[in-house]
Amino acid sequence: MSEQSNVDYQALIAAEGAAWGNAARSLAAKWRPDWQDMRHMRHYAIQDGRYLEKLFALVQPGWRVLDIGCSSGVISLEMARRGAHVEGIDVSAEALKIAQDYAAEHPPRGSLQYRLADVNCDPLPESYYDLIVALGVLHHLTDVRAALERIHTALKPNGLLYVSDFLETPTVNALIVGAFTLLLPAEISYRDKIRHLLRLRTRAIERMKASMETRGFSPFEGSGRHQNSLEAVHERFHVEWVHIHNAFVRPVTANLAMPERLAVLIGRLLLPFDELAVRLRLLQGLCYKLLARRA
Ligand SMILES: C[S@@+](CC[C@H](N)C(=O)[O-])C[C@H]1O[C@@H](n2cnc3c(N)ncnc32)[C@H](O)[C@@H]1O
Repeated sequence: MSEQSNVDYQALIAAEGAAWGNAARSLAAKWRPDWQDMRHMRHYAIQDGRYLEKLFALVQPGWRVLDIGCSSGVISLEMARRGAHVEGIDVSAEALKIAQDYAAEHPPRGSLQYRLADVNCDPLPESYYDLIVALGVLHHLTDVRAALERIHTALKPNGLLYVSDFLETPTVNALIVGAFTLLLPAEISYRDKIRHLLRLRTRAIERMKASMETRGFSPFEGSGRHQNSLEAVHERFHVEWVHIHNAFVRPVTANLAMPERLAVLIGRLLLPFDELAVRLRLLQGLCYKLLARRA
């Protein structure tokens, strides 16, 4: 990397950290950074929580675990409560401070360390971790394959990689989410929804995809999305299981402006239809979870 592009990259990664710091701060104003509280949040309560419980059940006391993009440490802390020695890394100093302060007040059974690090370029120790966790972070990376190579080297032989991430958004999914968003109460009024729709016409689908993928939220939001991280993991790791799921419920419920419990109820009512559509291959899931092993 030239000196100028390195300067540019450092500015962008600082902006990425700042954006996620803001997100972590506003989340912490509503929810304690603790799984016991956060598991009631809509996207965990509707579906993702069950995958995280699967992850927690894997964790063994004494394991060395790395949580990449740990944010305010909710998942790191829960894994350390299972007796693991967890390191959480992130590019957001503000999110890490929230994590550190909370862990200091609620020390876990295992150990917990947080540090500011960039998985795009900072070194990782070799053959060191029993488990590496990457939740919602691969789609932010500049070079997913290079990062996976270093993650691979950082795992002990037979060490485990747990990933939760997103796939590209097919147009039909965006149309379905758009239709639900028109019908159900969202932050934006019904009048404004119709006005936007008429004004945007053909661009409406692109806008809907961008909003579902939260493009523009931070400089690297979605930069790794087109690199097909799922395929990249398959190329380098032995995949034990993979679940592709959630064709529309997650983005629909994310947009709902209503009390959390009601949003969870609507999500749970819609989920069986979503699951059936994915199972029958009528719709493509937008999310995936996988467990892989160092090959
Ligand atoms: C979508 S959030 C996911 C947070 C958490 N893992 C979760 O599941 O709730 C993505 C996190 O990855 C972090 N991140 C983005 N790029 C990163 C990088 N290059 N190295 C380390 N962390 C990064 C962000 O600061 C943010 O906290």
